[in-house]
Amino acid sequence: MTKLASDFSNIKISLAPMQGFSDVIYRSAINKIGGIDVFYAPYIKTENESIKPKSLADIEPGANEGIVVVPQVMGNKPADILQVANAVKALGYNELNWNLGCPFPMVAKRRLGAGLLPYPEIIDDILAEVVAQSDVFLSVKMRLGYLSSDEIWPVLDVLNKHRIKEIIVHPRIGKQMYNGSADKSILSAIVGKSAHPVAYNGDICTSEQASSLIAENPTVSHLMIGRGLLCNPFLANQIKGTEPNKFIKRTQLLNFVGAIAEKQLDRLQGAGHFLQKMTTYWEYWSQMFADAHRAFKTIKKCRTIEEYTDKVQDMVLGWELTI
Ligand SMILES: Cc1cc2nc3c(=O)[nH]c(=O)nc-3n(C[C@H](O)[C@H](O)[C@H](O)COP(=O)(O)O)c2cc1C
Repeated sequence: MTKLASDFSNIKISLAPMQGFSDVIYRSAINKIGGIDVFYAPYIKTENESIKPKSLADIEPGANEGIVVVPQVMGNKPADILQVANAVKALGYNELNWNLGCPFPMVAKRRLGAGLLPYPEIIDDILAEVVAQSDVFLSVKMRLGYLSSDEIWPVLDVLNKHRIKEIIVHPRIGKQMYNGSADKSILSAIVGKSAHPVAYNGDICTSEQASSLIAENPTVSHLMIGRGLLCNPFLANQIKGTEPNKFIKRTQLLNFVGAIAEKQLDRLQGAGHFLQKMTTYWEYWSQMFADAHRAFKTIKKCRTIEEYTDKVQDMVLGWELTI
């Protein structure tokens, strides 16, 4: 039997790391809606042996006040990962998430992200060095494998040998990209095999999906949600049973969308760039409306900032919502 939503008030819900989305602008805005306990920042990679200042500015504590952030690293050399670990430690962080899930072929063929999963011995060597040389706790975000879901078992054997804070599993293989569905049924076997706490990530878009996943896997106490929260910023509240009424929801939504627009206007040059950026958000936000197709088309047709602002107000305050 599925538990009631109110039974899940103690579940930890995190925002998944998402390049182009889960940055400080988005984190600050969605944090005001509430329900999200931890925010994973998009991955940092070391380029030409130095970290992009923009990546560090995004996780700078002053800009992230009141938000629990976990930085993420993408790398396959101990020196690179240690460089990021030292940089985040200098900013006051004690946890760094290691990306073993990025599926994109350009990344994976360089044995980065999910592309490292077929090589447990390399993962072992990296962890031996990084864990010995840094007191920043590593957590791991991983897929089931790159070419096959069998790859996860030897990787778990390796992870079990090392000091790892948590393993966050997105049960797809890299080759799948985002096709098909996440294999939720494999979670209990992973929990059984892992010496570390296991968190779940993938295809949680409704509070019912969250409820049944937790009911079936009662030892899992952390759900990481990505696209579900992009499409519905109230999802964490709905899972925890703290959803506001429809009137408050529309007001909060307008503030949320407005706060992001304001920050993007400060950051970007010109209406063209601004509208382009807002369109990338609306690919997801349009899903909140009963007529998602028309909502997205309405935004794509905007040619000025004023037109955009008017249409958004119109839609958020007046159109039928599905969330
Ligand atoms: C636009 C986008 C950007 C992403 N960027 C990252 C990233 O920087 N690091 C990472 O580990 N995963 C990244 N992911 C994967 C998500 O964190 C998450 O694992 C994936 O979307 C599955 O979860 P969901 O079904 O809840 O969205 C990204 C996903 C999307 C859609």
